[in-house]
Amino acid sequence: MTSLWLDAHDPSRIPVSDLPVGLSYDVAVAGGGLTGLATAVAVARSGKRVILLEARTVGAVATGNTTAKLTVLQGTRLSTIRRRHSLEVAGTYLAANRDAQDWVLELCARHAVPVQRRAAYSYATTAPGAQSLRSELETARALGLDARWEDTTELPFPITGAVALEDQAQFDPMEVLGALAAELHSLGGIIVEGARLTGANRRGPLTLTTTAGEVRTDRLVLATGSPVLDRGGQPLRMVPHRSYALAYRVPAAGWVPRGMHVSVDGPVRSLRSAPQGDEELLLVGGNDHVTGRTESPRAQLADLHDWALELAPGAERTHSWAAQDYEPAGELPLIGALPGSEGTILAATGYAKWGMTNAVVAALAIAGSLDDRAPGWFATLNAASGGLGSLAQEATMGAQVGKELLKGWTGAELHALPEQAPPEGQGVVGRAQGRPVAVSTVEGRTCAVSGVCPHLGGVLRWNDAERSWDCPLHGSRFAPDGTLLEGPAVTGLGPVQP
Ligand SMILES: Cc1cc2nc3c(=O)[nH]c(=O)nc-3n(C[C@H](O)[C@H](O)[C@H](O)COP(=O)(O)OP(=O)(O)OC[C@H]3O[C@@H](n4cnc5c(N)ncnc54)[C@H](O)[C@@H]3O)c2cc1C
Ligand code: FES
Repeated sequence: MTSLWLDAHDPSRIPVSDLPVGLSYDVAVAGGGLTGLATAVAVARSGKRVILLEARTVGAVATGNTTAKLTVLQGTRLSTIRRRHSLEVAGTYLAANRDAQDWVLELCARHAVPVQRRAAYSYATTAPGAQSLRSELETARALGLDARWEDTTELPFPITGAVALEDQAQFDPMEVLGALAAELHSLGGIIVEGARLTGANRRGPLTLTTTAGEVRTDRLVLATGSPVLDRGGQPLRMVPHRSYALAYRVPAAGWVPRGMHVSVDGPVRSLRSAPQGDEELLLVGGNDHVTGRTESPRAQLADLHDWALELAPGAERTHSWAAQDYEPAGELPLIGALPGSEGTILAATGYAKWGMTNAVVAALAIAGSLDDRAPGWFATLNAASGGLGSLAQEATMGAQVGKELLKGWTGAELHALPEQAPPEGQGVVGRAQGRPVAVSTVEGRTCAVSGVCPHLGGVLRWNDAERSWDCPLHGSRFAPDGTLLEGPAVTGLGPVQP
């Protein structure tokens, strides 16, 4: 499953280097998504020596698989934050997101990245959904946004109402990463791909261990999605949510939206267009679920495809892909120094699928803090979110994770591994030699690997859509041969003789 953006991306546009030997840096950034590249550029603009270490390739995880709507109208985010915190905090979140949106648009203009200016819509299909939208509209207006109510929109199905905001934007996220990488390179920054951060001492100057060698740096920024190296804190305060995106070529008179739409009722649906040559493709996203906790991801993908064909009969699917983002317990992004690191290790995460702005919020906050010039909104945002300083764990999240942990181990202990290899495209976890073992068959190759997540011991589940092993606890994911794909783990799954 490859996204529209990664499929069209030319990897030679990213100026990568081998890891230089013997150099030290002011700031090392782990992670080559939007958070990592925007942070590296913002830091390098102030004259610091920066190295960016990416475990896989730039954009390989969430950013290259997003739907890339750059909007400050984000479903019912503002009213949710207002309810949870206050109007002032919602206003601060909006101010930060507006600054980030301006920063991205300015970057795109400077680097000639194509951007389509579009209206954003949050829409409802139920009466309670419309009620939530009324509350969103009221909050948006109270904060000075020029949002409006619509009874009907261009959507080709009945709705119970929508909130609209003009002049938002959409783009190809790999084009944005390409522009950031070019700017970082021109500022003397270094990008190393295939360099997974595996460890760091907790106090500066830091020595980092990576799969490409050691790196010395004064500061480290974890821009790794769920922060790696943080074994007890942030992964426990967030829930990893995975969802699908599909791109379609529609028949001549077929329907493609002009605006960018997101539903506020479940199951969440996201719609936009994507220019490709002379054509406008239809992009459909949705069927969000907690990573590793759905019975059949394949069935979810098929369900989304069926829904898309109802909108655009006869449409031809060109791409399908999936990605995950992290929902923070307190609804606000988590940005700041890791506990116990004396300010030398910073991290940013928890964007709740609104990272096109919030990744840049994090970049501006982190780069500003390093120069004691943090943006005005950061102190309020940080105080309200608890930053990364608090190890407080949301009771409900902890309880759910505990339940999943128990369920996984009990299930694996009860079932011995079947003697037959699983059929093509399937995987199974069972007991072998007293421990959970994960066996799968993909493209004719049967692999047996440890069935236990190396992060904090979750028992893995088979993802039949993406053919991966997914952890139901904090969202680490692994290829059938055990290679680490994403999440807070830093090692893969070892091979096992079943
Ligand atoms: C389906 C979907 C649709 C979305 N649509 C939108 C949208 O329309 N608008 C919007 O605003 N937001 C959207 N989002 C959210 C947005 O895409 C993400 O919040 C954002 O891309 C996160 O960027 P990131 O850089 O933090 O993470 P990532 O892009 O995941 O980057 C993290 C990088 O860190 C690397 N890494 C991990 N571990 C290590 C390590 N140990 N050492 C070195 N590198 C490491 C990974 O390989 C990865 O490349 C969507 C998210 C999803 C899942
Ligand atoms: S991701 Fe934490 S235990 Fe697997």
